[in-house]
Amino acid sequence: MQFAGSHILSVTQFERADVERIFAVADRMQPYAHRERVTKVLDGAILGSMFFEPSTRTRVSFGSAFNLLGGEVRETTGFENSAIAKGESLYDTARVLSGYSDVIAMRHPAEGSVAEFAAASRVPVINGGDGANEHPSQALLDLYTIKKELAGRGRGIDQLRIAMVGDLRYGRTVHSLCKLLCLFKGVQVVLVSPQELCMPPAIVEELREAGHDVMTSEVLEASIAHVDIVYSTRIQEERFSSQQEADLYRGRFRLNQSIYTQHCEPNTVIMHPLPRDSRDTARELDDDLNDNPNLAIFRQTDNGVLVRMALFALVLDVVEQVDAHARDVNWYTAGRF
Ligand code: NCD
Repeated sequence: MQFAGSHILSVTQFERADVERIFAVADRMQPYAHRERVTKVLDGAILGSMFFEPSTRTRVSFGSAFNLLGGEVRETTGFENSAIAKGESLYDTARVLSGYSDVIAMRHPAEGSVAEFAAASRVPVINGGDGANEHPSQALLDLYTIKKELAGRGRGIDQLRIAMVGDLRYGRTVHSLCKLLCLFKGVQVVLVSPQELCMPPAIVEELREAGHDVMTSEVLEASIAHVDIVYSTRIQEERFSSQQEADLYRGRFRLNQSIYTQHCEPNTVIMHPLPRDSRDTARELDDDLNDNPNLAIFRQTDNGVLVRMALFALVLDVVEQVDAHARDVNWYTAGRF
């Protein structure tokens, strides 16, 4: 695809070569994200960061990624702080705000809303999550993490064996990840969820049409026995009609160190888009996994910055200028990465 000036709304807009290009650019961002070098390639550029749903890491990592490229960030968070609360349409908001920014990252609770906004925007828009639909930058960072975690083991994304666990119905990260996996070959996917929270059938169909092997299960232990990756998710309580309904499913699938040791192959990688729900009633990934070297959740969040830097560099067409606008950092930085 042509990245320069494009919206990033869904993973379905990518070919495999596009994903590989994003990953190659993400690799080149490492010295900047790891605070060895500073670049000012986006000096003067403005990111409009518009998050109309709760967000910590997606919002902050989009902002950090833009700052790390030398640009500035303007944030709007929550409907209550925006003219949308006065009845303004997405069309008008997009027409106005795209006059104030060079690129926009947006999250919104309604499916399709970010695409609707993008259609009226004068600058590229990156989907930071639209309801239960898609979360393309998360799927890219998840796949980038999978590639990096498995690289040293002679395994890759082709022939990947992955279990996705939890709320597969409303979890937009697993929706986007499954669609992205359709670009690869020979993947085995085990979908572990309560029947009521199963993966949408259209996505299962897409996986099968891509030639992938898809199994479904309601039992965690047997499902994680022969996989490279366990990808756990939170019950998306904000998409349920009541807390009581969400309570029915919270805590149904809990992975802890003892279950991991008993059932997983050694070195199975544990992932989660975060936030994990650490309340006693949930604990889909127990804190006792924190010292497990295969817990990749914080490497995922670090990788998110690299992937988002890559998206900005590609969409704003500065990939080849990043290093020309760089210098070494002035301050002490050892030990963080
Ligand atoms: C996810 C999301 O918002 O879809 N979080 C994130 O962006 N990393 C997952 C979640 O909220 O459970």
